[in-house]
Amino acid sequence: MTQFTEPRVLILTGGSRGIGEATLKRFLQCGWRAINLSRHPSKIKGVTNIIVDLQNLSVKQAEIRKKFEAELAESSIISLIHNAGSFINDTADAQSAETVRAVFEVNVVAPIILNRWIIPLMATGSSIIYIGSTLAEKAVPGCASYITSKHAVAGLMKASCQDLAGKGIHTCCVCPGVTETEMLIERCKHVPGLLETLSGLSTYHRLLQPDELAELIEFCACHPLINGAMIHGNLGQVER
Ligand SMILES: NC(=O)c1ccc[n+]([C@@H]2O[C@H](COP(=O)([O-])OP(=O)(O)OC[C@H]3O[C@@H](n4cnc5c(N)ncnc54)[C@H](OP(=O)(O)O)[C@@H]3O)[C@@H](O)[C@H]2O)c1
Repeated sequence: MTQFTEPRVLILTGGSRGIGEATLKRFLQCGWRAINLSRHPSKIKGVTNIIVDLQNLSVKQAEIRKKFEAELAESSIISLIHNAGSFINDTADAQSAETVRAVFEVNVVAPIILNRWIIPLMATGSSIIYIGSTLAEKAVPGCASYITSKHAVAGLMKASCQDLAGKGIHTCCVCPGVTETEMLIERCKHVPGLLETLSGLSTYHRLLQPDELAELIEFCACHPLINGAMIHGNLGQVER
C-alpha cells in the first residue's frame, strides 16, 4: 500500500460493482478521496457518486463539470481510472453500426471526453489508468466490437503518454484476465461450461478476484515509472 502526505482524489468510472467497486475500496483504504461515475451508485461509504450513463456523457456535461469543480481544488493530484466497460457478443462479419457505436461510447468516447475535462485540473503526480483486457492485444471469436474497442483503448493510452510528456502525468493500460465479476457471469450464463473453460485459461486454473486487480491498479497509479505500458494482470494465460 502506497503512503503519501498530500491529498489525492480518485475519479473512477464503473464503481458500482466488480473491479471498479474493489478499486474504490482499495483507494479509500489508502487515504484517497473518491468520486464514482456510473448509472447506479456505489454503496461504499465515503464515495461521491455522479449518476450518469456514459453512453450519453456529453448530455450531462454542465452538471458533471460543476460537480468536479466543487469537489476538486484548482490543481489536485488525481488518478483518473477509465474502468466502466460495455461487453457484447458479435462477430466481425455481422456487426451492427448501432451496437458498435454504443460499445465505443462507453469504452472509448467517454474516456476521451473525461480526459478533456479532467487533465487541465491535474497536478504533477497525477495519473490516467485505462482498464483494457487481454483482448486489447489479441482476439478470440465472438466479441468483435468489444475487442475492437479495447484495442482502441490501448491506442488511446499510448497517445496519452506521448501527448502528456512533460506534464508529470503518467498513464498505463491495466489488462485484466478472466475476473469473477457480474460482466463475466452474465457473459457465461447462457453457455454451459464456459465459466470452467475460462477458469482453465489461467496457468493457476482459477479466476482472478476483483481485489487482486484493484491492488495492481493502485500500484500503477502511484508509480510514474509505469508510463505508456500495457500491464497484464492475468496469472499467466494458457495459449492454445
Ligand atoms: N471481468 C473480466 O473478466 C474482465 C476481463 C477483462 C477486462 N475487464 C474490464 O474490466 C472493467 C470492469 O469490468 P467488470 O468485470 O468489473 O464489469 P462489471 O462487473 O460488469 O461492472 C461494469 C461497471 O461499468 C459500469 N458501466 C457499464 N456501462 C455503463 C454505462 N453505460 N454508464 C455508466 N457506467 C457503466 C457499471 O455500472 P452501472 O451498471 O451502475 O452503470 C459497472 O459499475 C471493464 O472495462 C472490462 O472490460 C473485465
